Amino acid sequence: MTYLLALDQGTSSSRSIVFDAEGRIVAMAQREFRQLYPQPGWVEHDAMEIWQSQLATAQEALAKANLQAADIRALGITNQRETTVVWNRKTGQPIHHAIVWQDRRAEPACAALREQGLAPLVQRKTGLVIDAYFSGSKLKWILDHVAGAREQAARGELAFGTIDSWLVWRLTKGAVHATDVSNASRTMLFNVRENRWDEELLAALDIPAAILPAVHPSAHDYGRVAAEHLGGAIAIGGIAGDQQAALFGQACFKAGMAKNTYGTGCFMLMHTGAHFQSSANGLITTSAAQPSATPEFALEGSVFIGGAVVQWLRDGLQAIHASGEIEALARSVPDAGGVMFVPAFTGLGAPYWDAQARGTITGLTRGSTVAHIARAALESIAFQSAALLQAMSRDALAAGGAAVSELRVDGGACVNNLLMQFQADLLGIPVVRPQVIETTALGAACLAGLGCGVYSGVEELARIWRAERVFHPTLPRERAEALMADWERAVRQATAR
Ligand code: G3P
Repeated sequence: MTYLLALDQGTSSSRSIVFDAEGRIVAMAQREFRQLYPQPGWVEHDAMEIWQSQLATAQEALAKANLQAADIRALGITNQRETTVVWNRKTGQPIHHAIVWQDRRAEPACAALREQGLAPLVQRKTGLVIDAYFSGSKLKWILDHVAGAREQAARGELAFGTIDSWLVWRLTKGAVHATDVSNASRTMLFNVRENRWDEELLAALDIPAAILPAVHPSAHDYGRVAAEHLGGAIAIGGIAGDQQAALFGQACFKAGMAKNTYGTGCFMLMHTGAHFQSSANGLITTSAAQPSATPEFALEGSVFIGGAVVQWLRDGLQAIHASGEIEALARSVPDAGGVMFVPAFTGLGAPYWDAQARGTITGLTRGSTVAHIARAALESIAFQSAALLQAMSRDALAAGGAAVSELRVDGGACVNNLLMQFQADLLGIPVVRPQVIETTALGAACLAGLGCGVYSGVEELARIWRAERVFHPTLPRERAEALMADWERAVRQATAR
C-alpha cells in the first residue's frame, strides 16, 4: 500500500492526516494551541508551540495508522496563510511571536503605502489590495520593532517564512528554507505573474532579500524530514496555503471550477487557469497551487462571519446549547418568515467591503420566533456566499469565460444539509459535497504524491475525487432572485451608517 501524510497547520489547531493513495483517510490526529491577544486587534501564536503541536500530531497519526516513516511515500504541508514568522538561522529561535493573519497592527504601514499611490502597482504585480492581512506588512513590522532585526536580516542572519517555511525548516533541521508559490502569493512581495520576489515591492517595504525563502512550485522535492522527528526520513513533496490546497483537493484544476469552504468564515476560490484575472467586484487574484513551474491563478473572496454566526446564536443569544442544534431549530419553521440576518459583526468583506457595517436583523414581526432568527442566521451564510459567487461569475463573464456551473463545498458546516440545499437554491447551480470533506489536507497529500511520482498528473487526481452528495436547485429562479434582492436590501440597512 502507498500512504501519504498531510500536515494541516490551521489557525486554531495543528492536524495530521494519513491518506492512502486513493485519497481515503487512514488516521488523523489534532491538537489545539494557544491564541495570544496582547492588545486589541493583535493576534499572535508561539511558533515553537505550532512546531511542537504539529510534530506531535504527525507522530500520533502514524502511531494510530500503525505505520512507520518508511511506509509513508511522501509528506505534504498545508497551512494557515499569511501568518508570519522570523527566526534566527543559527539558533533556530523565533525573534518574535508569529503574527497571525487576523492581526491588524500593520495597518498604519499599509496606509502609508496607499498614500504613496502604490495600490495599482501592488495590484498589478501581486493581485492583492494593500492590507495588513498580508505577510509583507507584518514582516516589516517585526523588522521595524525588534531591536537590531533589520541589520541582522541584511547580514543574512534571519529567516522569514509563512508557517509552511517554518515547518519545512524545522522538519529538515535547518537544511531547507523554502516556500511554495501559493504561500508566496500572500506576502504582497511576490510577483505572481513571473513567480519571483519583486525588488520594487521589497524596496517599498524595506525588506532585505537575504531574509526570504526560495520559492518553488507546490509539487516539488522540498527535501527530507530529519530521521529523528518521525523515526525515519520522509520526502516532503508538496506545499500549499490551505485555501489553495482545498481548491486542489477538490480537483478544481481548470478555469471556472470553484470551491467554498464553510468554516468560521468562508473562503471561496475559483480557478482561472493560466490567466491572471483581476476583479471588478472586490475579489483578489491569487496564485493557485501549481503542480509545475507554469503560473496558475484563482480569484478569491471571503465571508468574515460564516459558521461564527452559529457560535453567536449559541454564546451571544443563547438560543441553542450546541452548534449542532441549529439545523433542527431552523427546520422547525418552513422558512425564515421574512426575517433577514446580516451578520456584519466585523464589517463586510467582498463584494461589499464596508468595515463600518454592523450586524442587522430585519423583517421582524409579532410572529417571528427564535427559530426564524436561527433559520435566517443559517441562510445568511448562503446569501453571503451567493453574493461572492455571483461576483466571481461576473468577473469570469467579463473576461470572456463562462459563469461557474457547479460549486464544490467543504469545511465543517458543509455537513448541514439544510444550508447546502438553500445554497443550491439561491445559486441555481448544483452544490457538490465530496466524500472526503478534509479537502485541505487531501490537497496537500495529492501535491506530495504528485511531487514524488505517486500520481501521473492532475487527470489521475480528478478521477480519485468523488462526490458524496449533489444538492440540485429546486427553487424557481424568480423566487431565488427575489430572495437575493431582499438580502441586498438588508445589506443596505446594515451598511447605512
Ligand atoms: O488566509 C487565512 C486562512 O488561510 C486561514 O485559514 O482554516 O486556518 O482559518 P484557517
